[in-house]
Amino acid sequence: IRYIDDLQLTGKRVFIRVDFNVPLEGRRVTDDTRIREALPTIRRALEMGGKVILASHLGRPKGADPKLSTVLVAEKLAELLGGKHEVIHADDCVGDNVKKQVNDLKAGQVLLLENLRFHKEEEANDEAFSRELAALADVYVNDAFGTAHRAHASTAGMVPFVKEKAAGFLMRKEIEYLGDKVLRNPQKPFVAILGGSKVSDKIKVIESLLPKVDALLVGGAMAYTFLKAQGIEVGKSRVEEGDKLALAAKLLDTAKRLKTPLVLPIDHIVCADPDGKGPVQETPDQVVPADMMGLDIGPKTRAMYTQRIRDAKTVIWNGPMGRFEVDKFAEGTRSVAAAMSINKDAVTVIGGGDSAAAVEQMGYADKMSHVSTGGGASLEFLEGQPLPGIKALETK
Ligand code: 3PG
Repeated sequence: IRYIDDLQLTGKRVFIRVDFNVPLEGRRVTDDTRIREALPTIRRALEMGGKVILASHLGRPKGADPKLSTVLVAEKLAELLGGKHEVIHADDCVGDNVKKQVNDLKAGQVLLLENLRFHKEEEANDEAFSRELAALADVYVNDAFGTAHRAHASTAGMVPFVKEKAAGFLMRKEIEYLGDKVLRNPQKPFVAILGGSKVSDKIKVIESLLPKVDALLVGGAMAYTFLKAQGIEVGKSRVEEGDKLALAAKLLDTAKRLKTPLVLPIDHIVCADPDGKGPVQETPDQVVPADMMGLDIGPKTRAMYTQRIRDAKTVIWNGPMGRFEVDKFAEGTRSVAAAMSINKDAVTVIGGGDSAAAVEQMGYADKMSHVSTGGGASLEFLEGQPLPGIKALETK
């Protein structure tokens, strides 16, 4: 893969695929992390004299939808660029008007295209649409790690139709941490922490990580599927039934065969109500009382996981330890974040999605080696699958 600073950009039209799929409340961007993380690439392209064209999707619109216009992001981007660069918004991403706007771009200006997904051809990876996007560019740069698991027109289809291609700095950072420092060359001891609600979402990640890690710590609702698979009483906890129980049992067997500890919670925070209305208790052991739900890992588990994390040299974490949106059930998630943030000798990586949001919200984000901007993308990357958006950049 080539990177943006390997290229000559002076006077060239530089099409940068970014992931500006940010959360919105009304017209307000509530988390601008993904925009901030794209700034180094945007700034470099501008410094190198490129005519910068930015393209992203926003949400999952069915056709054009003003509530999901990238114009909301344009204002935020202009602000984050410190008012030094004019951000022009194009009201489409293809067509004659856009071509004209690209041709009229002056040095230092940025053109942000309208939401790519207003055209269904984007997700369909349509060739004619890919060629239209490609016609806007002399150079293609992909910095949208968060969308790299999608084989869409702007992430894959258009790439062969542009003369030069490269990855941006965010893409480089994501590949460096998730790829080199976690998957390929982790310093040992290497500990993975997986949480979230479903085992079924994490099967491939567990299978991919088990042979590599020294321990895999489990939390969140998925822990109850594993416990139930071992015949432990889990009360009213959220469990995936049926074949998922057999699957959990199989993963436990695999771990045993590999002699990799797959560590489950040894105590829980329980309540009869998932929103914490009613008495909240700690259990003395792994058993959840019949009328209760497990909603967070308990204090003994927190201490055990903290110790494992503090002894590690590489830590990868994906998925909360409990229902952290409710304060009473946030301690498990907070303790993992805190333990990672304190371990300065380790490479600490947050695998995106809910755990990234939790770490951000709890104020630990800047104490980690890396917080991935990918949700689905970082999971698929950790599964060891080649991502279409990265594959497309590989030079033959
Ligand atoms: C994400 O937020 O995970 C990416 O931007 C991809 O969005 P998508 O799941 O709608 O394709």
